[in-house]
Amino acid sequence: MLYKFARPLFFSLDPEAAHDLTLNALQRAHDLGIAGRVAKRVQPLPVSVMGLNFANPVGLAAGLDKTAAHIDALGNFGFGFIEAGTVTPRPQPGNAKPRMFRLTRSQALINRMGFNNEGAEQFVDNVRRQHKFRDRGGIVGLNIGKNADTPIERALDDYRLCLRRVYDDADYVAVNVSSPNTKELRSLQSARQLGGLLAGLTEERMRLEDRHGKRVPIAVKIAPDVADSWLPSIADQLVEHHMDAVIATNTTIERSNVTGVKHADEAGGLSGRPLTERATQVVHALSRHLQGALPIIGVGGIMTASDAVEKMEAGASLVQLYTGFIYSGPDLVAESVEAIRRSKCVASSPPGPTSRRG
Ligand SMILES: Cc1cc2nc3c(=O)[nH]c(=O)nc-3n(C[C@H](O)[C@H](O)[C@H](O)COP(=O)(O)O)c2cc1C
Repeated sequence: MLYKFARPLFFSLDPEAAHDLTLNALQRAHDLGIAGRVAKRVQPLPVSVMGLNFANPVGLAAGLDKTAAHIDALGNFGFGFIEAGTVTPRPQPGNAKPRMFRLTRSQALINRMGFNNEGAEQFVDNVRRQHKFRDRGGIVGLNIGKNADTPIERALDDYRLCLRRVYDDADYVAVNVSSPNTKELRSLQSARQLGGLLAGLTEERMRLEDRHGKRVPIAVKIAPDVADSWLPSIADQLVEHHMDAVIATNTTIERSNVTGVKHADEAGGLSGRPLTERATQVVHALSRHLQGALPIIGVGGIMTASDAVEKMEAGASLVQLYTGFIYSGPDLVAESVEAIRRSKCVASSPPGPTSRRG
C-alpha cells in the first residue's frame, strides 16, 4: 500500500540510483528496527526442496543484493529465501553506467550490470555479519560467477574458488551460467562445456563435503534463450552430475515483446513482464522432461500473485522474483504466498535426487 505512494518518487530517479537509494533506506529502517512494521505479514507455507526446509516458496532472485550486505533488511519482506550475488572471486566494477534501464510501459527492466561486486571475501564477511533472517528460518542462497577478465577456458577455476569460499556459509549455492552481461558466459551451457563444468563442480563439492562434514545443495541457473531442443539435454546433465535444482530463468536477450519501446535497444538482459511467458515455458518443458528427478526454481516475469501460481503449476517447486518486486512492491511476496496456498499447488515438492540436508 505504502509502495503506491513511494513508487512515483523511485521511478522519477535513474533506475540504478533508485535501487541504491532504496537499499540504503531499507538498511537504515532495518537498523532502526522499524522495517518490519511496513511489510505485510506472511503466513508460513512450509515446503521442503533440495533437502532444505523453506518457510514459504517465494524467494528474492539474485542481483538485487549483489554484495549480500542486505539479507536481513530484505528478509523483513517475508521471503522464504534470498539469493545473494552474483559474486565473483575478485572484486570488479561491472560495466560503465548507465547500465540499468526501465521500460515502464512494458513493466520491464534491461540491465547490463556485469557482475559489479566486492569479491568473494567481502561477500562472505557480509553474509556472516547477519543472522536475523536465518534465525527466523530464512534460507540463504549464494550465487556464484566468474570474473569478466578470466578467460572462458578457465571459468571452472573461478567457480571452484567461489564454491570453496561460500560453501560453509550457504544454505545452497546457485551457479550462474546464464547472465548475458559477461562475455561468453552463456556458452558454458553448451554441449561442449556444460559437462566439464558440472563434473568439476561435483568433484570440488565432494572435497568440500568431506572437509566441512555437510553437503550443500547446488542449483544451476539457466537462460531463457536456450533452444527448446537443448533443454532436455541440460536437464539430463544436471541430474547425471548430481546437481540439486535448476533455476529457470535468467534475463533474456530477446526483444520481440518490446519492439518500439523506449530503451528496448539497450544491450543487456530483459526482465519483467515480457519474460513471463517464455520463463514459464522453460519451467514447463523442464518439468515435463524431468518428471520430478530434479526440483525447479521458477523465475522470470512474476509481476502478480497469479504469475507466481502459474510458475508453480508449470512445475516449479519454488519461485523467485526481482522485477515484480520493483514494479508491484513488497506486498507481492505475501500476495504470492497466499495465492500459492489457495491454489493448493505446494503438495510435497520433489527433493533433489541426492539431497540429504534438512
Ligand atoms: C538489475 C538486475 C540485476 C541482475 N543481476 C543478476 C545477477 O547478478 N545474477 C543472477 O543470477 N541474476 C541476476 N539477475 C536476474 C534475476 O535474478 C532474474 O533471474 C531475472 O531478472 C528474471 O526475473 P524477474 O523477471 O522477476 O526480474 C538480475 C536482474 C536484474 C533486473
